[in-house]
Amino acid sequence: MIAPSILSCNFLELGKVIELLNQSEADFIHIDVMDGIFVPNITIGFDIISQIKKVSKKPLDVHLMIHKPERYIDRFIDCGADILTIHYEENTHLHRSILQIKKRNVVAGVAINPHTPVALLKEIFPELDLVLIMSVNPGFGGQEFIESTVSKIVEAKTIIKKNKYKCLIEIDGGVNLKNYKYLIKKGVDILVAGNAIFSSKDILKTITKFKK
Ligand code: DX5
Ligand code: ZN
Repeated sequence: MIAPSILSCNFLELGKVIELLNQSEADFIHIDVMDGIFVPNITIGFDIISQIKKVSKKPLDVHLMIHKPERYIDRFIDCGADILTIHYEENTHLHRSILQIKKRNVVAGVAINPHTPVALLKEIFPELDLVLIMSVNPGFGGQEFIESTVSKIVEAKTIIKKNKYKCLIEIDGGVNLKNYKYLIKKGVDILVAGNAIFSSKDILKTITKFKK
């Protein structure tokens, strides 16, 4: 599956971008929420997500890169998140937060930074619908893929298969048309791609290439 990250789109034309993605083969629309505290960047908030929800035909994959995300779980779900992913590094009561998301019938994900080991998810894995492996340091689009994160995909896949968990693996950061096949082979279920899609000449064609 492919989730274009609108972080790299032309925000002056956000409405047109969503319409274009509606026509595309994209499975989700990936929305990066940043607060300037957890990451050194500030992006989209509640109102824009609500507006996107009104016109989107694709499910919204909301990636929270914010301090204490548990404060805003319900509000992001009210805005229309279909997948809600919070960071391991920012959550003291992760188990409670995951259950809070699942109670609302929303896909619950946990993201881990490049330096965070998969092993730390051992106890929470049975509860997870999705694990998001960051393959760049979160904060910006257009960064280079960090190769050492590939072994974390393999590790997560092995745990999921061995225990028959129903947990998807999503990879986010530096994904492009050169490395995506390799990442799928390693066990990725959902590719997030921002720059590779929105900097390409033909956005629709690039999404189709990823789907093939
Ligand atoms: C980075 C974000 C990503 C970003 C990916 O913190 O979580 O979703 O948009 O962008 P690319 O694909 O350009 O690396
Ligand atoms: Zn993201």
